[in-house]
Amino acid sequence: MDRFDDWLGEEASTYSSIYFLVDANTAEQCLVRLAASLKQLPEFEILEIPAGEEQKSWEVLGQLLAALAELGADRRALLIALGGGVVTDLGGFVASIYKRGIDHVLVPTSLLGMTDAAIGGKNGVDLDGAKNLAGVFRHPRALVVWPDFLDTLPEEFILDGRAESIKHGLIADAAFWEELKRGEEAWSAAQVERSMAIKTDICAEDPLEKGKRKLLNFGHTVGHALESHMLQKGMPWSHGRCVAAGMCVEIELSVELLGFPPEKRDEVNSYLIDRFGLKELKETAFSHWRSWLSYDKKNAEGQWRFVLLKDVGEAEYDQPVAPEQLERAWTRAFQ
Ligand SMILES: NC(=O)c1ccc[n+]([C@@H]2O[C@H](COP(=O)([O-])OP(=O)(O)OC[C@H]3O[C@@H](n4cnc5c(N)ncnc54)[C@H](O)[C@@H]3O)[C@@H](O)[C@H]2O)c1
Repeated sequence: MDRFDDWLGEEASTYSSIYFLVDANTAEQCLVRLAASLKQLPEFEILEIPAGEEQKSWEVLGQLLAALAELGADRRALLIALGGGVVTDLGGFVASIYKRGIDHVLVPTSLLGMTDAAIGGKNGVDLDGAKNLAGVFRHPRALVVWPDFLDTLPEEFILDGRAESIKHGLIADAAFWEELKRGEEAWSAAQVERSMAIKTDICAEDPLEKGKRKLLNFGHTVGHALESHMLQKGMPWSHGRCVAAGMCVEIELSVELLGFPPEKRDEVNSYLIDRFGLKELKETAFSHWRSWLSYDKKNAEGQWRFVLLKDVGEAEYDQPVAPEQLERAWTRAFQ
């Protein structure tokens, strides 16, 4: 926070106006805390949206652009997105296209935002429920991670952030997965940093997702389709829970297609199924959600492409998967 304050001291005067994007919860829980810790924060305006994934939409994007115009924001305005992944994804996109782009700062306040969503420059909105269908790559001027915000984050959302950290361990760092599996504490600053480092290193090597960055989509091919399906059914599941389910299914595929060790599958999947309450997916047929897979940006030339694991910490991208293989894995995962 001190470093952010110093940065504001140096940079704030170069901006004509400052706008905070918050949701109803971060307006209440985080904005006052943030403003109280920053001595050099000039006057600002607040753009507030309700909380929830439904807000990450084209309609809300349009409303925010219109609100900025109405408030007279010019090209030297700064937008600070203070919130979870919904607010940082939306805020990054608003800033990327308002008057062809204004500067933005991301201040993630959820564990998922800190360990994943705010890193790597991807932003966007969902279109008719299909996840992240519109968006651009654009990095913020600054990324401010202050784990103290997690004091007020409800337990269920802590678990969501953990899903992405588990993903980082499974694709790139077996020792990190072992630590997360053993750990009693919900999160630690060291774990947040470890997760951030894994994502940052991968994104630095492949910023535009031409190759290695695709590894970060482990669990997300199924996870996003399931998230869209649940959203459309009017009983939204959180991103982290859907990714946890996606990882279970994609590990089943990994056993069949890449020889992932079955005993490790049992260990990872029983951990995920217990922690994330995934047994109820037994009642959901593959045919109910499979149509959402066609929206997945990773699927090339009409073929489904997955990130699969050879072992914990060893992942491969662009693995072709046939519909019957996926259906089998889905059925096996939650039996
Ligand atoms: N851009 C990327 O690379 C990327 C990566 C992963 C996920 N995502 C996106 O992130 C989104 C999920 O993010 P999320 O799980 O943070 O969801 P979210 O933004 O909806 O936040 C979860 C809930 O926690 C509340 N909250 C956030 N911080 C709080 C705090 N400190 N105290 C109290 N309440 C707080 C929010 O108001 C919300 O109700 C999804 O839309 C997903 O697609 C993006």
